[in-house]
Amino acid sequence: MSQTPANVVVTGAAGNIAYSLLWRVAAGDVFGPDRPVNLTLLEIPEAVRAAEGTAMELNDSALPLLNKITVTDDANKAFDGAQAAFLVGAKPRGKGESRADMLAANGKIFIGQGQAINNGAADDVRVLVVGNPANTNAYIANKAAPDVPADRFNALMRLDHNRALSMLSQQLGVSSTAIERLTVWGNHSDTQFPDITYATVDGNPVEVDRTWYTDEFIPRVAKRGAEIIEVRGKSSAASAASASVDHMRDWVQGTAGKWTTAALPSTGQYGVDEGLVFGFPVTGENGAWEVVDKLELSDDQRARIDANITALKDEAAIADKLF
Ligand code: NAD
Ligand code: LMR
Repeated sequence: MSQTPANVVVTGAAGNIAYSLLWRVAAGDVFGPDRPVNLTLLEIPEAVRAAEGTAMELNDSALPLLNKITVTDDANKAFDGAQAAFLVGAKPRGKGESRADMLAANGKIFIGQGQAINNGAADDVRVLVVGNPANTNAYIANKAAPDVPADRFNALMRLDHNRALSMLSQQLGVSSTAIERLTVWGNHSDTQFPDITYATVDGNPVEVDRTWYTDEFIPRVAKRGAEIIEVRGKSSAASAASASVDHMRDWVQGTAGKWTTAALPSTGQYGVDEGLVFGFPVTGENGAWEVVDKLELSDDQRARIDANITALKDEAAIADKLF
């Protein structure tokens, strides 16, 4: 272990997603097989004991890269020196609820945590918001941390991307690795737009039945979270953790020119209002995301993207009142 350990914070550490995520991070799946990690588990006071149980199990796993574990309910202590933060801790929705319904219950969490990140996180901090509504919670955390560059606040839309990739590869009967240039625009909500316009399979344009694309694929990807809740009885957890690892790994290590999807604060790309945390096609370059620019949009694509801008502006207006 010659490298300095990476300081990683996971909030909601006693919850379902963290129970999968913590092991993946500690196994080197984000920072690579040579970089040790210090894990800080942040929980609310009532769940600290359960998080201590998770920490005991992490210790019992004798993971070679796991250097140190801290369990706390103090956000300022947790984020002091943080280099990667997974903001998972938040209430999941139940059957019949929308993710935007969770803004009232969860939004305020991200003010306090954004402030704590502003106070003490490392200069190279990267924050990935997972707790729902993820895009607007990332907007809130960013707003609460004026001294941290806005591009350090992302929201998880890699799960939507992975769902789209998997469904498309099954439809085409190919491995998901054969498909490139897929993206999911917008909000991690029912309005999201999984877009195959530019997608290729083995380097050739993807050709699918238009009715399958508009009437089955797009709504099924967009509503997959609710489908999982219906079938599993609980919201997605291992797939969300896996997508969180994919997102943070590609942010840190890059994508070698390949497209993926990340939700990040807009700087005005594609007519998205500055500051809204929006899912874009991106590549990972030198530890930062580059939005794929100058794509031509059809009227249909434009309308689907605009629906997401409207939804996120409405959520941001509610979020602004929480401050
Ligand atoms: P969970 O209920 O199993 O765990 C959540 C944990 O967060 C609990 O242990 C709770 O005590 C903790 N928590 C609550 N407030 C906290 C705070 N202020 N600080 C620290 N911890 C806090 O839920 P889960 O299944 O792990 O899901 C967590 C969140 O992730 C939910 O909001 C869910 O909707 C969301 N989610 C998002 C995606 C995505 O793609 N963006 C995917 C799946 C789930
Ligand atoms: C998901 O997409 O699985 C999560 O956002 C959980 C949910 O509420 O759908």
